[in-house]
Amino acid sequence: MAAFDTLRWRDGRLELLDQRALPAAANYVGCDSARAVAEGIRDMVVRGAPAIGCAAAYGVALEAGRLRASTFPDLAAALEAAHGLLAASRPTAVNLSWALARMRGRQAALGACAPGVLADELLAEAHRIREEDERLNHVLGAHGAALIPDGARILTHCNAGALATAGHGTALGVIRSAVAAGKAVSVYADETRPFLQGARLTAWELAQDGIPVTVIVDAAAGHLMSRGEIDVVIVGADRVAANGDVANKIGTYPLAVLARRHGLPFYVACPLSSVDPAIGRGADIPIEERLGDEVTGHDGVRWAPAGVGARNPVFDVTPAALVSALITERGVTHAPDRARMRSLLESGRAAAPVRASSPRSPRSPRR
Ligand code: MRU
Repeated sequence: MAAFDTLRWRDGRLELLDQRALPAAANYVGCDSARAVAEGIRDMVVRGAPAIGCAAAYGVALEAGRLRASTFPDLAAALEAAHGLLAASRPTAVNLSWALARMRGRQAALGACAPGVLADELLAEAHRIREEDERLNHVLGAHGAALIPDGARILTHCNAGALATAGHGTALGVIRSAVAAGKAVSVYADETRPFLQGARLTAWELAQDGIPVTVIVDAAAGHLMSRGEIDVVIVGADRVAANGDVANKIGTYPLAVLARRHGLPFYVACPLSSVDPAIGRGADIPIEERLGDEVTGHDGVRWAPAGVGARNPVFDVTPAALVSALITERGVTHAPDRARMRSLLESGRAAAPVRASSPRSPRSPRR
């Protein structure tokens, strides 16, 4: 179990572990309004798809709590504004709008009740969203752990750990569950330019758990694969389209291409709250672009020449055809495509695995 809380409810407010300062300092930032939570999401105090969904739910609850003594129409108007602020804070991870829709659904179910009751009920719903996320990560972690061979050298990208969720993690949840099942694994963490989620956050989490971790520059992945030094690639997801295409941290797509080139399994681990059935294909997923300053320098130091611009798209889309399997709380969906995604969403049961001879399964290793 991770020895920290990514987000916690203390003394009537939300506290976010400030991920910008890790690993140098572990400070919590207090939020007492939806605006403060939206700013925390936008400024990357909290990041990672499920974690920002949980934070947004608390943002709505905070707003309701702030206005518990007002009239119902005033509260309803303030909640509407809070939804708008929170929804606009980051565009790519669907968990944000998923959590907001759940809060809206709870509000609708309660109808025109006393503001104090609404505030209490919305806070209870935010707690449920956070607790469920952590629980589901343990479930999907156990499903994924079965795919990890003993002794595996695993490559991961970005941070899909406890810091990116309510706890345990998705990709790192699978790794943690494999270790708990007695498997000896080691991890290569891509540093993940430019925000360094891998070098700072994944390395910090795994080191605390005593799981062997080695940081590499993003560009070293192909070299290590070509030398036969990586067995499995596993990443998280910010949004999975209805056809199985996966948006995740920039640099994920080239890893999937490399994994296919070298015959390595490429696994994506995420809860179903990261699946967006309303988006037909990856090309339609909104991709956030952040300021070029994150690329050209850091903390007042500029390494690119003055006057030179930079692009900073922070997510990319991996086509479903490159995904060996999607790991969710409902099990392992091998070679996800539109039909298998539909049955995953509709059946509530694990989708049937395809045979090893499928043209979509990894080819024999080419190292
Ligand atoms: O920009 P970030 O740090 O929010 O991006 C996070 C990722 O891309 C993660 O891989 C993804 O959210 C999955 S987290 C379980």
